[in-house]
Amino acid sequence: MSKPKLVVTRELPEEAMHLLKEEADLYVWESESESIPRSVLLQEVQQATGIVTNVADSIDREVLDAAPHLRVVSTMAVGFDNIDVNTATQRGIAIGHTPGILTETTADLTFALLMATARRVVDGDRFVRNGEWKSWGPMLLTGQDIYGATIGIIGMGRIGEAVARRAAGFAMKLLYHNRSRRPEVEQKLGAEYRSLDELLAESDYVVLMAPGSPDTYRMIGAREISLMKRSAVFINTSRGTNVDEQALYQALKEKRIWAAGLDVFEQEPIRTDHPLLSLDNVVVLPHIGSASIATRTRMAVIAAKNALAGIRGERLLHTVNPEVYEA
Ligand code: GLV
Repeated sequence: MSKPKLVVTRELPEEAMHLLKEEADLYVWESESESIPRSVLLQEVQQATGIVTNVADSIDREVLDAAPHLRVVSTMAVGFDNIDVNTATQRGIAIGHTPGILTETTADLTFALLMATARRVVDGDRFVRNGEWKSWGPMLLTGQDIYGATIGIIGMGRIGEAVARRAAGFAMKLLYHNRSRRPEVEQKLGAEYRSLDELLAESDYVVLMAPGSPDTYRMIGAREISLMKRSAVFINTSRGTNVDEQALYQALKEKRIWAAGLDVFEQEPIRTDHPLLSLDNVVVLPHIGSASIATRTRMAVIAAKNALAGIRGERLLHTVNPEVYEA
């Protein structure tokens, strides 16, 4: 009997590929640097029982319509805003993701970006390489203090809490906004709950950690940015769609806030002629929050195991839509 077909939209680390090959016939998009073209995806899913995907692929209704045999979509990510979960659920298609294992790694990157932006690490690197370093200067490349400053975390989920723990180590005053209060984080870390507007007004660092969803779409826009301090540093390692990039660009250009560190964008990859990239007070990264070797390897293995469980008709390790098992 032939094995079920899995479409793997990006070659994964060997450990994960090995697991997948044992139980499935694979179609693998093998490019090192480019996502699977839409037309190839739509073609290859026609006979597929499962898809192993990532944040760069849109698994929307059109893809699901093209895949009548699909039982599982497994994404190598915690976020799943790129997948039409409702349609998949209606059709009994399980969606797997990789929560938990990437929490600390993503919090590390968030803090790295915060520090790099505040202390102008990227500016400094450019300055040295460009041969601009002629002498020590009293106010040369001066930035913002981190130790003892106020951090406002929007979205106190697993990663938000891990960022809060790091902030506590820097003696930062900890504010947060979340859909619901987190009394244990308040007790353990001394975090104080604020309305979104209060948090924006009081924070030296505004760190956006909310998941991407229709509810959070452009939740940081012109009005919200206007509430921030002139010295504020804005960090986003969640989803680019949570921010109105045009409004952010205007505010940064006019120095109405001090700087921003961004790992995510409305459109990824961001165009190199995007106005945000013309600004010196912006540090940008290519969506690498969870990108340590160990964590990405673990994520790939979990994504592989989720996909295999799905094609066997078993419960996934981590399911976005457990409702599919209730039917
Ligand atoms: C990355 O953005 C993820 O959702 O894991």
